[in-house]
Amino acid sequence: MVKPSVLVTRRWPAAVEAKLAETYNVTLNTGDIPLAPAEFRDAIAKFDAVLPTVTDKIGADAMDVRKPQTKIMGNYGVGYSHICESSAKRLGVTVTNTPDVLSECTADIAMTLLLMIARRAGEGEREVRAGEWTGWRPTHLIGTKVSGKTLGIIGFGRIGQEMARRAHHGFGMKIIVQNRSKVKTEVLATYNATQVDTVEDLLPQCDFVSLHCPGGAANKHLINGPRLNLMREDAFLINTARGEVIDERALTQMLMFDLIGGAALDVFDGEPKINPDLAQCDNLVMLPHLGSATREAREAMGFRVLNNLDDFFAGREPQDRVI
Ligand code: DGY
Repeated sequence: MVKPSVLVTRRWPAAVEAKLAETYNVTLNTGDIPLAPAEFRDAIAKFDAVLPTVTDKIGADAMDVRKPQTKIMGNYGVGYSHICESSAKRLGVTVTNTPDVLSECTADIAMTLLLMIARRAGEGEREVRAGEWTGWRPTHLIGTKVSGKTLGIIGFGRIGQEMARRAHHGFGMKIIVQNRSKVKTEVLATYNATQVDTVEDLLPQCDFVSLHCPGGAANKHLINGPRLNLMREDAFLINTARGEVIDERALTQMLMFDLIGGAALDVFDGEPKINPDLAQCDNLVMLPHLGSATREAREAMGFRVLNNLDDFFAGREPQDRVI
């Protein structure tokens, strides 16, 4: 039987690339350079499956293909707002993602960011490395206690719930949740959490706010100037969701004028380019989109794509079909 042809758009963990090659006729992007729209169009006209990832830009232009060969895009990553949904539907391309397997590691990074900004770990590290540390003193780099504080979680899917688990059971935090749909009472009870209806209800009540909602047009600038103004002036904002969820210009103003306590971001609007004003803010921690960056999660993500492909080419409905 002829093996389906598969294009992997970026380098994946070696163990997954090797496993893929056992079943499929695999083409790897050995240079690991992101594909341009024209290269996506060529790929969609040529390969049975394209396996993109969250930083690929697969808008309508990249999917403007008259005779598609591609039947499935097995996305490596949980977010898929980078794939034009209407084009995928028009071309009849199935799209899958990789939920679950990265939830714990992404929540770990959100908690890392929360602790770093509260305890001024980024500032401290910069000071030590610059050779500017003059020694312990009672007033040096005084931060904010985390244990027992109130955490607001916007988006209470799998990652939001893992964040709640860490914060509530690890740090005794009180959890308030805002989510598009009603969260089951038993799920809320696991974290002794309370659900509120709107973002406006949540923000003024929290010492920390952590974003775990999807990106894309629907949530662009969900956290905008007026909403940032609802945060307490000593509260902290954490983002491991998508950069576009925050209006970064408004956030920069809030940080520069100390109108909130600080922010900690793993994702940026237009990343990897960073708004240069953000880098001027000392009350900001920045990480380079590390949410799922563990060997365990990244391998599991790859194997999850493989399962979805196997199901698809065996004529079964893939477990993680999103389009
Ligand atoms: C995702 O999967 O959407 C993350 O942003 C990358 O792990």
